[in-house]
Amino acid sequence: MAVVGIVPAAGSGERLGADGPKAFALCGGRPLLEWSLEVLEAACDRVVVAVPAGYEQGPDRVRGGACRSASVREALLAAPEATVAVVHDAARPLVTRELVERCVAALEEGFDGAIAAAPVVDTIKEAGADRRVRRTLDRSLLWAIQTPQAFRADVLRRALDVDAATLAAATDDAALVEAAGGSVRVVEAPAENIKVTRPVDLALAEALLRRRTEA
Ligand code: CTP
Ligand code: MG
Repeated sequence: MAVVGIVPAAGSGERLGADGPKAFALCGGRPLLEWSLEVLEAACDRVVVAVPAGYEQGPDRVRGGACRSASVREALLAAPEATVAVVHDAARPLVTRELVERCVAALEEGFDGAIAAAPVVDTIKEAGADRRVRRTLDRSLLWAIQTPQAFRADVLRRALDVDAATLAAATDDAALVEAAGGSVRVVEAPAENIKVTRPVDLALAEALLRRRTEA
């Protein structure tokens, strides 16, 4: 089994609004990407990172694509030896080795994908464009999906072999695997595994990382 980490880090980080690409913005004194990379490198045989144009220097760096899943596809193409692919966003610096390993282990139950997720704590309603509420969903069945997401690599390769519009519409890779008929299970993850999207998330991530090193 060759477990390869795939880190999409090629986004521009519009919503964070830093000077440069989000993955290279400082978080707790080091580039955001490095927190995830350190954890993935410990848990995987190799890690390939999809980076923005101009950041390709160094081994195992490939230029990302036009959307997140296109970046995942580019990175996976550079890892033909992978039998298991662990996709993890550079934007989630609080990932742990234990969580990566639990996702990989869950694949052995016979699933094509095993994805980190936290039970939803808010009440979720569906509303129309006019803001009129249509229905309230049964929260006990809802999960907020995160990364890491572990996949049988051959299944993920096939799922990513779709047109650009389908890739762009996917908000995670598991959705593409599901659409291709693959079986995916959730792996309960801590809510602490937040995604840095806006400036407030960066401040929260820094506080959580500080708390971890002080513990
Ligand atoms: N990503 C990528 N390639 C893209 C777009 C996004 O590799 N073309 C990566 C980001 O670098 C990030 C992850 O996918 O690690 C999740 O995306 P998101 O949080 O949306 O990051 P950005 O797209 O950079 O941010 P924004 O949407 O605010 O511009
Ligand atoms: Mg984005």
